[in-house]
Amino acid sequence: MNAELIREVRERNDIVEVVSSYVSLKRAGKNYVALCPFHQEKTPSFTVSPDKQLWHCFGCGLGGDVFSFVQRVENIPFGEALRKLAERVGIKIERLSGGEASLRARLIEINKLAMNFYELALWSNVGKAARDYLKRRGISEEIARCFNLGYAPAEWEALTNYLKKCSVAPEEAVRVGLIIRAETGDRYYDRFRDRLMFPIMSASGDVIGFGGRALGDNPAKYINTPETPIFQKRDVLYALHIARKAIQQSGAAIVVEGYMDAIALHQFGFQNTVATMGTALTPQMLSQLRRYAGIVYLAFDADSAGMSATLRSSALFRQMDVEVRVVAMPEGMDPDGYVRREGAEAFKALVEKSFKMIDYKVERFLLSSEGSRPTSQALRHLMAILREVDDPLERERVMQRVARCWSEGDGERVIRTLEAIQSAWRKHEAASSTRAISTSADNAIERALLERSKAPLPKGVEQAERELVAAMLQDELAARRIIELLSPDEFILQSHSQIARIVVACIEGDEFHNLPQYISELTDEQLRSQACGLMMADLSFINAEGAIESRVETIKRYKIKQQSRQMRERLLKMAESGSIDSSSPEVAQLLKLEKQLRGKC
Ligand code: UTP
Ligand code: MN
Repeated sequence: MNAELIREVRERNDIVEVVSSYVSLKRAGKNYVALCPFHQEKTPSFTVSPDKQLWHCFGCGLGGDVFSFVQRVENIPFGEALRKLAERVGIKIERLSGGEASLRARLIEINKLAMNFYELALWSNVGKAARDYLKRRGISEEIARCFNLGYAPAEWEALTNYLKKCSVAPEEAVRVGLIIRAETGDRYYDRFRDRLMFPIMSASGDVIGFGGRALGDNPAKYINTPETPIFQKRDVLYALHIARKAIQQSGAAIVVEGYMDAIALHQFGFQNTVATMGTALTPQMLSQLRRYAGIVYLAFDADSAGMSATLRSSALFRQMDVEVRVVAMPEGMDPDGYVRREGAEAFKALVEKSFKMIDYKVERFLLSSEGSRPTSQALRHLMAILREVDDPLERERVMQRVARCWSEGDGERVIRTLEAIQSAWRKHEAASSTRAISTSADNAIERALLERSKAPLPKGVEQAERELVAAMLQDELAARRIIELLSPDEFILQSHSQIARIVVACIEGDEFHNLPQYISELTDEQLRSQACGLMMADLSFINAEGAIESRVETIKRYKIKQQSRQMRERLLKMAESGSIDSSSPEVAQLLKLEKQLRGKC
């Protein structure tokens, strides 16, 4: 079962059409509604969104995409739903064979002709320089053949003429990006010339594009296939079709940034390696990998743009049920250079010593000139890092690590430094709580209290949260505004925080348009259903003046109230035991909270 096939089947099956064949839908605004097929009801609360290609029942809470609908309504497993929907749009699951099946099949066929042509060239006379290059880079013939490497001759029309002989119309070859139409006249020429060719394949082994490396110094080191109907660079993991089995067997994948890195690691025995082609690891890629692997090791160049972008979107990975670990490559080294110089054992050791994402950030901080010494600036930066850690124990661990580093092993100093960090953190928390009251730790407590007392969140507060999250899911501008006012951790209900974090990560990764897909792929069914519902909830409230601000205010006010109530209880207890006077910090804090409450009336 491959990800692209699933995507193609999803794209070509319009959810409205599919659902219509089971229940009768009525238009309601931009959505369709019907009586829910999954529970008894008298008024329709089952809703289908054509824009988002999602369904949700506001009555029973179920929801999902076209696959989950067919699965439920037919009571069949995913694979069968996939087959059914594939058949419905004329896709044969047993892969397409030759001829004029579909556009996709035709484009893949043309790519395959080109791959064979380049491969033949590499191993014939014209390929001598390219073969020498491979030798210089230490790539064995065996591995070159395994990756179907090739050579694009240093001519303008080598492939163009070859494809003509194979009855490929020039326009077809332009469509897959192999040849280019000259600006003037009816002439065509090869896109790739005098380059080492890397065919790029889908997870199931279809040739969907190429990368071509210059053999010498050339300002354009690599040229890649442009975006085509079958090739979107940002979704593709190079070498996945070769690595898939090893990934499945080991339950782990290694992700690198370059073609050369992937090939080198395969040659040195790391057959579970794939590459991103110079971009960050995107959630789409991770969602492909998690079908096979529970753990993903990132072996990126330390200072690459891909690494920074990946670190920024780490919040999204937390939702995806995959452990992502960072392999710390020595500065200025890529996995290819490293494994060739230091050997497979050394690289394996590096993988075994990999870091959790948060620890990697901390170590990088400690190695930076700013973070190497305990200055006030370093402390401020540390606070920002600590804010990303939800778990108090984990946070404590990070504090200890930093304290040890800043004290250079001097036992007594470690304790003092740790205390200083802890006190800075408490201050930081208190300061941010005057602004926003709750940090995630407070939230954890609040949530625990809520759980224990079983006191439900007041209706108004719950609704304010719900509406804000719905707005975040549906409207990028609104989402950006809400994020400025309220961080995801500040939502009181855990599920709202989770969904908000996904939205934030999508925005940071420039992926907002793909939000419906991530939502429909969430593994937690309850969360998925809830998010699908919010994704389709009515948003007309948003047009009112100050609609967002007033809802944020409702939430913040509630939190301050809760805090002040807790503080009162604490003071009461202290008063009972006689351990209180007017200079207690608790008193000052309570006064501050009360003042804030009044200010918000
Ligand atoms: P690198 O510059 O790290 O390339 O870019 P590399 O794979 O290590 O190649 P060598 O060792 O220099 O020969 C990482 C990846 O970024 C993409 C390619 O996919 C490359 O493998 N890239 C890089 C481009 O698409 N275009 C470029 O000009 C450079
Ligand atoms: Mn390299």
